[in-house]
Amino acid sequence: MLTLRSLRAVLGGRPVLHGIDAVARAGRVTAIIGPNGSGKTTLLRAIAGDLPHSGSVAIDGAEVARLKPWDLAARRAVLPQATTLAFPFTVAEVVRLGLTAGPHAGRSELVEPALAEVDLPGFGPRLYQELSGGQQARVQLARVRVQVWDPVVAGRPCWLILDEPVAALDIAHQLAVMRVLRRYADAGGGVVMVLHDLNLAAMAADEVWLLHEGRLLAAGSPAEVIGGAELARAYGCPLTANRPAPPGATFVLPHALWAGAA
Ligand SMILES: Nc1ncnc2c1ncn2[C@@H]1O[C@H](COP(=O)(O)OP(=O)(O)OP(=O)(O)O)[C@@H](O)[C@H]1O
Ligand SMILES: [Mg+2]
Repeated sequence: MLTLRSLRAVLGGRPVLHGIDAVARAGRVTAIIGPNGSGKTTLLRAIAGDLPHSGSVAIDGAEVARLKPWDLAARRAVLPQATTLAFPFTVAEVVRLGLTAGPHAGRSELVEPALAEVDLPGFGPRLYQELSGGQQARVQLARVRVQVWDPVVAGRPCWLILDEPVAALDIAHQLAVMRVLRRYADAGGGVVMVLHDLNLAAMAADEVWLLHEGRLLAAGSPAEVIGGAELARAYGCPLTANRPAPPGATFVLPHALWAGAA
C-alpha cells in the first residue's frame, strides 16, 4: 500500500503540493490525471522518494524519506517524464541500467524478455540513439520493468511509478503497455502512473486521482472521477463524459469537436 498523508512539497520557493492525502493499493492500477502544471510529476517524484517533502509518503509501511537508495530500488522502479542519455549506449545497455540495483540486480537474462514485452525483441545490440522516439520510450519502460520484474518479492509488492509512460506511443503500443501493467497489478504488483489521455485512464485504471493546482480534487473509480463534475473544472474546458452501449468504460469528448467553442 502506498500511503500519502498531508504531503506537501515546495519547488523554487513556491508550494507545489498543498497537503495530499491518498492511498494506492498493490494489485490495482492507479492513474494520476490533471492539467499541465497541476503537480503530477512533482507528486510522482515525492512518491518515488526523489523529492524532499513534508508530511508522509510510505510504501508498504516504510517511509520513503528514510529508506536507503538500495532499499528504495528494491521496492519501486521509476520512469521519469523525460530521459536523456549522453552516451551512445546500446539498447541492451540501457535496459541493464535497471539491473544495477534492486531485487534482480545483475540478472542480464531479463533483458531480452523485457524487450520482447515492449515489442522490441532482438533490439539489444542496436544503438539507442538510432531508435525512433516511441521505440526509445519503450526501451525506457523495459529498463524500469527489469528493476522490479517480479511483481511480488519475498511476499512484498513491488511498484511501478510511471510518468506519462505512453505519451510517445502509437495506439496499439499504448494498449499493449496497458495490458502489461494490468498483468503486473493482477499478479500483485502496484502501478501508479501519470496519464494525459483520459479515455486510456478510464479504460486502464482501477483508481483515478485528479490533481488541480497541487491539490487532489477527486479520487475514486474512473466512473466517479472521469465521469464526475470536477473534471471540467480541473481542466477549465467543457467536457462531457459518456458511456457507450453496450455498457463499457467511461469516455470523454471535448465539446469543441461539435460546435460553438472558440
Ligand atoms: N524545478 C522546479 N522549480 C520550480 N518550480 C517547479 C519546478 N518543477 C516544477 N515546478 C512547478 O511546479 C508545478 C507543478 O509541476 P509538475 O511538473 O509537477 O506539473 P505536471 O502536472 O507534471 O505538468 P505536465 O502535465 O506539464 O507534465 C508547476 O507550476 C511548475 O512550474
Ligand atoms: Mg509532468
